[in-house]
Amino acid sequence: MIRLAHPALSEDVLERLRPLLANGMLTSGRLVGELEDLLSAQVQGREVVLVSSGTTAALLGFQILYDLGVRHLLIPDFTFPSVAASALRVGLKLTLTDIDAHLLSMPPEALDGWPAGPEYGFLSIDQFGIPGPNEALRQRALTGGWRWFEDAACAQGSTSDSVPCGTRATVSIFSFHPRKVMTTAEGGALILEDPELARQARELRSLGLTGQGLDRNFTSLGYNARLSEVHAALGLDHITRLEAMLQTRRDLGMHYLKLLNEWGEIAVPGGFGVPGANFQSMVVLLPPGIDRGAVARELLQRGIESTLPGFAIHTQPAFAGLPRTGPLVHSHTLHDRGLALPLHDGMSAQDVATVVAGLREAVGD
Ligand SMILES: Cc1ncc(COP(=O)(O)O)c(C=O)c1O
Repeated sequence: MIRLAHPALSEDVLERLRPLLANGMLTSGRLVGELEDLLSAQVQGREVVLVSSGTTAALLGFQILYDLGVRHLLIPDFTFPSVAASALRVGLKLTLTDIDAHLLSMPPEALDGWPAGPEYGFLSIDQFGIPGPNEALRQRALTGGWRWFEDAACAQGSTSDSVPCGTRATVSIFSFHPRKVMTTAEGGALILEDPELARQARELRSLGLTGQGLDRNFTSLGYNARLSEVHAALGLDHITRLEAMLQTRRDLGMHYLKLLNEWGEIAVPGGFGVPGANFQSMVVLLPPGIDRGAVARELLQRGIESTLPGFAIHTQPAFAGLPRTGPLVHSHTLHDRGLALPLHDGMSAQDVATVVAGLREAVGD
């Protein structure tokens, strides 16, 4: 079976777990801090706060924006649903806007007409690890006085204009779910420039408690969003090999692009070809009118997993009725015709060729 994702952890994890089992420090130990320091070095020394998932990173990030006075966020319609749900849960009001067909992200022009000022902000996504137009968004954020939330869940190791994704916004997040570049099984991170916001994130992560030992108080309304030491041990194994893992993904991604473009009958979003993409996923647009379910079943019969690329949230019952700035054409197309193909660093170039050959058969080429 060619799996969509297959995180390759090494036996070294067991060596990291053994002391934890011996001393019982399964949570709130030193491994989380070690992993935070290594991650911080990859995002230009920004503060990194590890939490239990990308979704809880979003929840805490939106809570921080809310506490800064933000009330309204402009978000791309093709947003990960649990992220939109987290924003709504903390009381933010959302307005949907279309993605652009190339980067599958929020185009900077989407902010034309978005009200300026501290009550307003926006969310952008580095979709499938394709870097968004982040420098242009940064300029817009400055001009509009907007707080910016960058969902870089899929974009660890991606860069835009040579700057790592996750380093320009007020709050950015990574996810370490097994389908991401690096994994902690479940896990996520907030990335923040402002040490005071990082302090708040740490407080919210750990029940809203401040102080030490017997001298502790519940200072804010917190969550338990901590990452355990067991999860951090997995991440420490992966982070030592991250550069090699990223390179393998890029090589496999470029091979996909070569074979898919040679075939020419299938649309591949152009953003996959931009410099700095990490190839967290490979997503194609099936020709209009093709039965996507039948294609996925046919691929599975050939031993190839595939899945939906995500959701246009205006189609989902939980998000019905959110206001929008205009038609959501490109988001709808990706929702209707997108198919995510296997891509992970345990694959070979031959596996990529097998997937593309299977896809050609499945769409009746
Ligand atoms: C773009 C994006 N944002 C956020 C998340 C949420 O991350 P997690 O699954 O770690 O909660 C995901 C997860 O797949 C994602 O793809």
